[in-house]
Amino acid sequence: MTIHTLINENDLKNRIKELATQIQNDFNNEEIIFVCILKGAVFFATELAKSISSSIILDFMKVSSYSGTQSTGKLSFALDISQDIQNKNVIIIEDIIDTGRTLSYLKKYFKEKNPKKLKICTLLDKKERREFDIEPDYTGFNIPDKFVIGFGLDYDEKYRNLPFIGYLE
Ligand code: IMP
Ligand code: MG
Repeated sequence: MTIHTLINENDLKNRIKELATQIQNDFNNEEIIFVCILKGAVFFATELAKSISSSIILDFMKVSSYSGTQSTGKLSFALDISQDIQNKNVIIIEDIIDTGRTLSYLKKYFKEKNPKKLKICTLLDKKERREFDIEPDYTGFNIPDKFVIGFGLDYDEKYRNLPFIGYLE
């Protein structure tokens, strides 16, 4: 198996800077809580945060999907955020949207906490695979239906530290 490059390091950096500018403008330089979805979104969230000059508060959430005997994998929290988000600006930061299950669940969960604004930002989107009705507010790249690795994304916990997005073939 060889690793092929889908999005190189330079294109990632440039696109993340563009997203940062867009977010900063949309939020009028107000403080934003980044809810980074572990583990995959860590590289993206920190890179994005570094390109924003207004105040960013980092928080983390870990969701596990256990498939059990059913194919409709149920989600559970392995780690919840550590602060009250009521009346705060919140952006959920995700590495990739696939079926949309994770984010449609998380969006409902956070909406109930009455944030001032709630947005979704994903580095990658595999639109073809969508099964749940969820649309991100900010997307880095739309990608074809390939299993990708790198820049936080893993295959069996490996390859997260690749500085680019690749796929195995
Ligand atoms: P969803 O709930 O089906 O949208 O799945 C989203 C999660 O599946 C992501 O947060 C990733 O952890 C994982 N995932 C989906 N596609 C890929 C991929 O191509 N590479 C690595 N992880 C992926
Ligand atoms: Mg993930």
